[in-house]
Amino acid sequence: MATRKKSKGKGKAKAASRKVVKLKSKAAAGKRKNGNGKLSSLPKPSAKPYGQDGKALSGVRILDFTHVQSGPTCTQLLAWLGADVIKVERPGVGDITRGQLVDVKGADSLYFTMLNHNKRSITIDSKHSQGKRVLDELIKVCDVLVENFAPGALDRMGLTWEHIHKLNPRMVVASVKGFGPGPYEDCKVYENVAQCAGGSASTTGFREGPPLVTGSQIGDSGTGLHLALGIVCALYQRNRTGRGQKVLAAMQDGVLNLCRVKLRDQQRLKVGPLTEYSQYGEGVPFGDSVPRAGNDSGGGQPGWILKCKGWENDPDAYIYFITQAPVWQAICDLIGEPTWKTDPEYATPRARLPKLKAIFARIEQWTMTKTKFEVMEICNKVDIPVGPILSMKEIAEEPSLRKTGTVVEVDHPTRGKYLTVGNPIKMSDSISEVTRSPLLGEHTDEILKDVLKFSSKDIGEIKGSGALSAPKKEEKAA
Ligand code: COA
Repeated sequence: MATRKKSKGKGKAKAASRKVVKLKSKAAAGKRKNGNGKLSSLPKPSAKPYGQDGKALSGVRILDFTHVQSGPTCTQLLAWLGADVIKVERPGVGDITRGQLVDVKGADSLYFTMLNHNKRSITIDSKHSQGKRVLDELIKVCDVLVENFAPGALDRMGLTWEHIHKLNPRMVVASVKGFGPGPYEDCKVYENVAQCAGGSASTTGFREGPPLVTGSQIGDSGTGLHLALGIVCALYQRNRTGRGQKVLAAMQDGVLNLCRVKLRDQQRLKVGPLTEYSQYGEGVPFGDSVPRAGNDSGGGQPGWILKCKGWENDPDAYIYFITQAPVWQAICDLIGEPTWKTDPEYATPRARLPKLKAIFARIEQWTMTKTKFEVMEICNKVDIPVGPILSMKEIAEEPSLRKTGTVVEVDHPTRGKYLTVGNPIKMSDSISEVTRSPLLGEHTDEILKDVLKFSSKDIGEIKGSGALSAPKKEEKAA
């Protein structure tokens, strides 16, 4: 290229170099090649202080057709990040969780309130012709439709991909389903079903006991998280392609993604025992699939849960203790076994592997003389990784979590003040405030008027049809 430029003569070379300079200055002014290789404009960096120039998803409007936990987790996250989330609920009933595990009579349950912050609620009977009319208008003005109905339910409402895309080719249609395409695709799925089908239950619990489900809602909330990422990526791709796409997060897939270290171990089993599992040290042979590993640490650093002072009366007086190799010497000093630092029977990770049970028993003799918080303080000073087993009571009362907004108190008109988990994702230019969940249909009028711009005559006609309200008692009985 360089030789050819030279042969073009002085004038042309100058022009070429001017062109380069021109392109460079475009880049400096915020021009960048997009995925198609075309130049696109980027805005200049905002001059407003961080946190005061809107939110990450400002301007994105979500048609939220979700219920129970998985879908609402996803749309709540998007709402915290600034999207306008319009939750569509069945008239008179709403999201079923409003009435599940009720603790305050007549008020929405904590189950519902803690999954639906920062959203607006409109009630629509999606099977009523006037309800369909409202939904079609919503589809035209929203960017994303999120749903987690049973397989086929959206189609049965007439909201097929083709229908949606005819109305709004830019719309992203995002779904949570229990399973992806395959033998179980038509099944209804709840949290624990997904934990079992995704490989979590078979690898959780103690070897000698049955499979266990975990308290973390990895099937529901974990899949909601996956879906949220898919949605944001689809919106990003839409900037380039101008069209929406389908996004599917299957709960089985989401759980398996969170269990990938266990599929790693499944393959390692073919070449020998899993030496970091305590069953190896105990001389118990491995079968042909990954066993339950109790409280063994999932990585290469052995760990276990140990009793602390007060364990006899406090079910959470325990600490997770990791015998990380680089701090082995510090551990020996703390527990009063200085000879283990140099004794070849203990000095190397390999030598310790067959004796882990006995080693943790010795460390536990020491942890039992301290509270879990004392162990935490002493160990962290010398870089030994430990984790106190915190109860939900302790977490709710932890001042540092309140300070960061990870645990927040919210006021609600019918239930009063309650605690919730705020946005766990902290962004310096997109600050989340947690606002209470909506009452059933609280924003129906405002959405019809301000978002859909229906005239008063149209609103009267739609409302008069009964598409937005609960069926009257006699209709219900009939
Ligand atoms: N107006 C009219 N009908 C409505 C409506 C509205 N606003 N909202 C929902 N419905 C209807 C649906 O169209 C469906 O009717 P259909 O069966 O005639 O098609 C009906 O309500 C029930 O919906 P469905 O999703 O089947 O609810 P369910 O309570 O029977 O099942 C789940 C609940 C969670 C098991 C199921 O939705 C599911 O498997 N979802 C996917 C996986 C998932 O997200 N699971 C985790 C939940 S935390």
